[in-house]
Amino acid sequence: MAGLAAIAVQCTDGTGEQESAPFRGTMFIELFIATACLFWIVGSSIKSVVAAPALRVQGGEKNNRVNLNVKRYGDGPVFNDTLLQVCNRQGSAHLKILITGNMGYVGPEVAKHLRVRRPSATLDGFDNAYFAHCLTGAPVLPERNLDEQFYGDVRDISLDLRGYDAVVQLAAISNDPMGNRFQDVTLDINQNTTVSLGKAAAAAGVKNFVFASSCSVYGVADGPPRKETDPLNPITAYAKSKIGAERELAAIDTDMTITCLRFATACGMSDRLRLDLVLNDFVACALSCRQISVLSDGTPWRPLIDVADMARAIDWAVDRPAGTGGRFLTVNAGSDDRNFQVKDLANAVAGRVPGTDVSINTSAPVDSRSYKVDFGLYRSLAPDHQPAVTLDQSIQNLVDGLKKMNFKDADFRSSDLIRLKVLQDHMDTGRLNERLEWR
Ligand SMILES: NC(=O)c1ccc[n+]([C@@H]2O[C@H](COP(=O)([O-])OP(=O)(O)OC[C@H]3O[C@@H](n4cnc5c(N)ncnc54)[C@H](O)[C@@H]3O)[C@@H](O)[C@H]2O)c1
Repeated sequence: MAGLAAIAVQCTDGTGEQESAPFRGTMFIELFIATACLFWIVGSSIKSVVAAPALRVQGGEKNNRVNLNVKRYGDGPVFNDTLLQVCNRQGSAHLKILITGNMGYVGPEVAKHLRVRRPSATLDGFDNAYFAHCLTGAPVLPERNLDEQFYGDVRDISLDLRGYDAVVQLAAISNDPMGNRFQDVTLDINQNTTVSLGKAAAAAGVKNFVFASSCSVYGVADGPPRKETDPLNPITAYAKSKIGAERELAAIDTDMTITCLRFATACGMSDRLRLDLVLNDFVACALSCRQISVLSDGTPWRPLIDVADMARAIDWAVDRPAGTGGRFLTVNAGSDDRNFQVKDLANAVAGRVPGTDVSINTSAPVDSRSYKVDFGLYRSLAPDHQPAVTLDQSIQNLVDGLKKMNFKDADFRSSDLIRLKVLQDHMDTGRLNERLEWR
């Protein structure tokens, strides 16, 4: 309860700047307020547990089913003026949305964007917190944008999905290196669990299901930019799990609107920044040692999308009407002008970090991912949610964010900013087992 109170009190304040409080020095009033808050918090948390019986801590079970009820206590200025103005402009955004896998790299930006665009929506998160501790300069806990944070494993999620309008499935083993290291788990979480969650959502009457798929399903693909209907060539366990999930989601017999967003490779600053992505890695190399060594021959094509633009696409998909694209839709999410060759990315970064050299490995083996992607369908279906962040802005945001973190670590590829490294540490210290379950 002490921990819960600590979280709740922090959320009430939201700034952490107690010095500026007007009642400073009046001990009696402070004591009175603290006591009243405590009674209120206890009352609220009891109410929450009663309202979400599936999430009670059950004796003897793994402790990853705890719900800390991270409530947005109080109405600080950020939830009043600006957001209510947006709310009044929009008027129609009273959705209840569950975001699974919200505590990774992309999730915090999704929560932030949805909170701004849909201030009156109920936003809940569900995550087993592999990377929850990996904050990167966030001024406040990103989950503050949510109404409630559930902790648990999506593989045995028992949350009652009735009442949710939309489920956004981000939870995944989310890149090739992790997918190669944990192949069975990748299939289980990314494919089997996504499909089970889709079926549970459909059975619960959820209206929209959004799946974070990936353009990596195109694998090595020469020739013109890939359209959604073009042949696929998934090379890695990660890519295979994504296309497997798409196919099984398509086969669910339901009225639920399903959107599979085949995202380009993510990049950009986040409250849980990761450096195991091509552009982010290049910026980190440039800042830490003024040297970018491209591991391939630099020719592979890679479409990019900033995390802020991923959030924009998800905002579109959470209440996409079936009439826009069909009840089941697979769509490439990104923009044509953000198909880049890896060497061009390196040079763009070097151009923004003075003194950076770029070296290309001309004898490197062929990259298992090279594809240009056609984003015409997304452009026609979602004209108001098109990517807005330019490559230069993504790079500059990364530079600014990393500088704010005082980032200098030339050995960052062995650090907690690499997801595989974090999982491996959890395992080496006995916190996670081989199935990536908390012990
Ligand atoms: N980053 C990219 O380049 C990219 C591109 C295309 C698509 N995607 C997809 O977008 C989604 C989000 O990506 P990300 O970069 O934020 O990934 P991430 O690895 O940073 O975050 C994934 C989150 O899912 C959670 N998670 C994993 N397994 C879970 C489980 N069994 N139960 C509960 N939670 C679990 C993790 O704790 C983590 O918080 C993923 O599905 C990913 O495949 C990412």
